[in-house]
Amino acid sequence: MTALVFPDLLSPSLSGLSAAELDSRIAAAKEALGSKVVILGHHYQRDEIIKFADFRGDSYKLAKEASQRSEAEYIIFCGVHFMAESADILSQPHQKVILPDMAAGCSMADMADIEQVEECWEQLREATSAMLIPITYMNSTASLKAFCGRNGGAVCTSSNCGKILDWAWKQCEKVLFFPDQHLGRNTAAKMGVPLEQMAVWDPHRDFGGTNAQAIGRARIILWKGHCSVHQRFTVDQIRQARRDHPRCRVIVHPECTYEVVQAADDSGSTEYIIRAVSQGSPGSVWAVGTELHLVNRLAKENPDRTVFCLDDCMCLCATMYRIDPEHLLWVLENLLEGRVVNPITVDEETSRWALVALHRMLAHAG
Ligand code: 13P
Ligand code: SF4
Repeated sequence: MTALVFPDLLSPSLSGLSAAELDSRIAAAKEALGSKVVILGHHYQRDEIIKFADFRGDSYKLAKEASQRSEAEYIIFCGVHFMAESADILSQPHQKVILPDMAAGCSMADMADIEQVEECWEQLREATSAMLIPITYMNSTASLKAFCGRNGGAVCTSSNCGKILDWAWKQCEKVLFFPDQHLGRNTAAKMGVPLEQMAVWDPHRDFGGTNAQAIGRARIILWKGHCSVHQRFTVDQIRQARRDHPRCRVIVHPECTYEVVQAADDSGSTEYIIRAVSQGSPGSVWAVGTELHLVNRLAKENPDRTVFCLDDCMCLCATMYRIDPEHLLWVLENLLEGRVVNPITVDEETSRWALVALHRMLAHAG
């Protein structure tokens, strides 16, 4: 019988360990736990963590991995809170999901809460008789996924957003998309929807800061949320990259602004960017607009190509960075002693409806 321990109480004795000591204790604990544990690492994690991941991927790939590792009793999710929640929803009842540091949240996911979304939904329902479907980006709390499940909607990721919008528009006139306005706008624009047919809903203003005419015209209503990492990239940085490297190909994540995506040569999810750079020809030059740890890893793993970040100053995700070797060691050694620290559990009712929305995504964009 294992004990569940809350909250995050990292032992101070771990903070003084050298990198080599941390590495060898993590490796030893992992080996001792064997197939009871699976470690999932998001691409934005630091190298010191990624090297211990059994699987690495974007949020979609890792959610799928979590659902397919039923032999592991413990899923240690090296990523952020919403990802660990999705893993818990998709995992089997006998499995426990652990987030090494509870402070690893996501500022974008925090930009839409269930009360705000329910209020928006009610106001939109009163303002229009058009059929409306809610779509939430994977980067959202479980309660928003459940909201989509209950209201005929689905989850999407940056890898399959176009397919999910297409699925929704086959059945409805309008989509309410949250929490990332940029992913919604960039994907809809790529699908040919003009900007005039997109409205923005600001949850901090009366009637979302919009009006009935704009909602009437809109095919997609975009929640005013963003990723603080990807929103930092600018068109000026792209111009500078082209001046410094005239042969470079600029590729960015669709969480960047519309102007940045328009100025880039290509855009796509984390997995898409990895594939594009890895399949690029030797000698090619890549200016990449996404999280710094991933870009640096791409550069290291493709030494015959030039790969650099459009903004190498501050473009790391501070909350992803919270997962450090100390926390990974702490959760592993606690497991060895029979204690589950930092478990992530989504309540049954929320899980049930969130699963409906996740299954719709898997069914229509597999
Ligand atoms: P993906 O992992 O779906 O590419 O999303 C990027 C991101 O911001 C993860 O938090
Ligand atoms: Fe959230 Fe952006 Fe960090 Fe992803 S990169 S976890 S969306 S803040």
